[in-house]
Amino acid sequence: MKVPEHVSIIMDGNGRWATERGLDRTAGHMEGVESVRACTEAAVECGVKYLSLYAFSEENWGRPQSEVDALMGLMFKSMVEELSNFLDNGIRFIVLGNRQRLAEALNSEIDACMEKTKDNGTLTLVIFLSYSGKWDILQAAKKFALEVARNPGREEELMAMGPEGFDRYLVTAGIPDPDLIVRTSGEMRLSNYLLWQGAYSELVFSDLMWPDFRKEAFRSVLETYSKRDRRYGKVK
Ligand code: IPE
Ligand code: IPE
Ligand code: MG
Repeated sequence: MKVPEHVSIIMDGNGRWATERGLDRTAGHMEGVESVRACTEAAVECGVKYLSLYAFSEENWGRPQSEVDALMGLMFKSMVEELSNFLDNGIRFIVLGNRQRLAEALNSEIDACMEKTKDNGTLTLVIFLSYSGKWDILQAAKKFALEVARNPGREEELMAMGPEGFDRYLVTAGIPDPDLIVRTSGEMRLSNYLLWQGAYSELVFSDLMWPDFRKEAFRSVLETYSKRDRRYGKVK
């Protein structure tokens, strides 16, 4: 089976999963953490090298403060609890997004977790937190503009840059583009996710709510991916 190097998931449907059961939306987010654990394990078992997860978008700051707080609290707690698992299983942990908007305590815990796991090589687990694709492209363009302004002698060389050159200004610099983007809960949109990096990703949509998306579902989307024919605009 052709295994994708980088699988990315838009984890959606926690709220509906909870509401359908008469539970508080937070209960759905908590159950969703179990799916993160299961999919991380499955990714290691299947030989996937990068698993990235859309955990919180820039737009999600617009949710009720109580839900935002619950999600941030859950992020903090899960990270602390999972550290030993990351160390035991060779998982490198990375958080990408607009980190300036995160609380100081959360940021320092993220830094500590990233530092402790930085030399692990079995799987890189990327959590996109306070992330959006347009934000990423814009911050990259600003970095590029600053570099041009600060290097008057290198203008011509810098302006000759192609798409690969631009990759290094994005927060995902050094991480291969996702081969596969999965979205759960039956929604068929990108919701401002990896707009640049997902240019040639295969898309798979699952009707399962994220808390129900476990190992079997993960293996099944890999199976679907292995049957896809990627042509990159060429003729085969
Ligand atoms: C995904 O589940 C988690 C986040 C976006 C943070 P939702 O909270 O969006 O769940 P639904 O879509 O309302 O069911
Ligand atoms: C997308 O889900 C963002 C994450 C999964 C983190 P949303 O539930 O926020 O997206 P919309 O509102 O359905 O587009
Ligand atoms: Mg949603």
